Amino acid sequence: MSKQFDVIVIGGGPGGYVAAIRAAQLGFNVACIDEWKNAKGGPALGGTCTNVGCIPSKALLQSSENFDQAGHHFADHGIEVKGLAMDVAKMLGRKDAVVKQNNDGIQYLFKKNKITFFHGRGTFARSSDAGYEITVAGSAPDTLVGKHVIIATGSNARALPGVPFDEEMILSNDGALRVGAVPARLGLIGSGVIGLEMGSVWRRLGSDVTVLEALPTFLGAVDEQIAREAKKAFDKQGLKIELGVRVGEVKSGKKGVSVAWTNARGEAQTLNVDKLIVSIGRAPNTIGLGAQVIGLQLDERGAIVVDWDCKTNLPNVWAIGDVVRGPMLAHKAEEEGVAVAERMAGQHGHVDFNTVPWVIYTSPEIAWVGQTEQQLKASGRAYKAGTFPFLANGRARALGDTTGMVKFLADAATDEILGVHIVGPQASELISEAVVAMEFRASSEDIARICHAHPSLSEATKEAALAVDKRTLNF
Ligand code: FAD
Ligand code: NAI
Repeated sequence: MSKQFDVIVIGGGPGGYVAAIRAAQLGFNVACIDEWKNAKGGPALGGTCTNVGCIPSKALLQSSENFDQAGHHFADHGIEVKGLAMDVAKMLGRKDAVVKQNNDGIQYLFKKNKITFFHGRGTFARSSDAGYEITVAGSAPDTLVGKHVIIATGSNARALPGVPFDEEMILSNDGALRVGAVPARLGLIGSGVIGLEMGSVWRRLGSDVTVLEALPTFLGAVDEQIAREAKKAFDKQGLKIELGVRVGEVKSGKKGVSVAWTNARGEAQTLNVDKLIVSIGRAPNTIGLGAQVIGLQLDERGAIVVDWDCKTNLPNVWAIGDVVRGPMLAHKAEEEGVAVAERMAGQHGHVDFNTVPWVIYTSPEIAWVGQTEQQLKASGRAYKAGTFPFLANGRARALGDTTGMVKFLADAATDEILGVHIVGPQASELISEAVVAMEFRASSEDIARICHAHPSLSEATKEAALAVDKRTLNF
């Protein structure tokens, strides 16, 4: 006997679990199916983000940053540290505990919102007048029928062709977060977001890190001026980033991994490392979903085809998050989940892709929202730019971290903010002000006229806004 629901959500990552909560708040009878297993085989809600993505990576970034501070920066404050040592097992244990707190938190939220959770793989079996029939294959097999279905099955790491992940020597993001000892030599393929964040973790803990990147430009999606500033900081830290490379044969043995590669000048090179992390992007995940059974349309990348409202080609079937077009970010998945639940309830859920912020949690942090200077140039839009360096910010000096700047880009005629780009301390938090401003279609003068607390890093934001009109006060 199948169990009937108004809404079935397949996938319990940030897209799926948030969609389930919002749908339940709106009065729907909701089920969520998720197959992620913890080390004991039990459920681990939260998807990639909670288990092998955002949360554990930030836990390791914090631990390694603390170690780096104690080793290299505490002395500036008169703090002497003797016998500094890293207990990697303890660091990983702390990370696992942080992950578990988040897993448990989502289970609690499901109970609170009366969402029925099924642990196992959800597969479309057929569609009928009653809705979509979905089988759950797991420790307790079941059959559910839902009037509406939200697919939030996320993404998987892409491997290099012919070089599968073994998670021992050749690591995806999963293995990269479980390395049991600091590798003396670490290689990364791809200097995107994961490459830089994971490279930073292990470099701070003492690894000799080399990153091989195919593109000739560093962080091509980031504003060029900001990317240049970040690259300078990474070079100074000793993160070796090779651009414009072609990766050839990868050989892996018990003692290490050797990567044949060609540099930008066409010279053949070999990189010998103890571990290799491959972070060359992620692919949408529809494995075992039974998309073809119900005629769900996928594109050539395997992503589920949706319109701007996250509607698929099938009535009452929606898809959100990493498995559809758009940036692969947890907060984008969450916003889509909320918007879809509201649309199902006849409301007008909305996601503005132009105000989705990006953050790279390296040190310095890199954060941005809206358009880059190169995008504005390419589109022919007339703009004004204003920058302010953290070097001239009192709070940054007191913190002992004056790397980087805030940069504003505003329309030349109307002064509307078109993009804000930050490289420097707490960029991840500072960017929120810019997102709010852009959501309200503020001008740079609006920010420049707002009273910002002193001393705070946010004064650099105000000063960068003032710089658009060439009237900074402290630089
Ligand atoms: P996912 O989180 O991938 O969740 C999908 C869930 O569906 C999984 O639990 C999966 O097991 C389950 N599933 C799949 N198929 C089925 C099925 N048929 N039946 C049942 N269950 C199924 N983004 C940020 O915004 N900030 C960050 O700091 C950040 N850091 C990251 C760090 C790393 C190392 C990685 C890899 C990613 C990071 N991301 C970050 C990206 C972020 O994790 C994803 O954008 C986000 O998890 C996407 O959410 P989702 O709900 O679409 O899918
Ligand atoms: P990415 O798309 O950020 O970067 C991949 C990089 O690999 C690119 O620079 C690309 O040019 C390069 N590349 C591709 N093929 C290559 C090859 N054969 N040889 C050498 N270089 C190659 O992907 P990444 O780092 O794997 O992360 C996946 C996604 O996860 C990100 O795009 C982001 O959406 C999400 N993420 C977000 C984070 C955040 O918000 N802080 C943190 C980590 C991941």
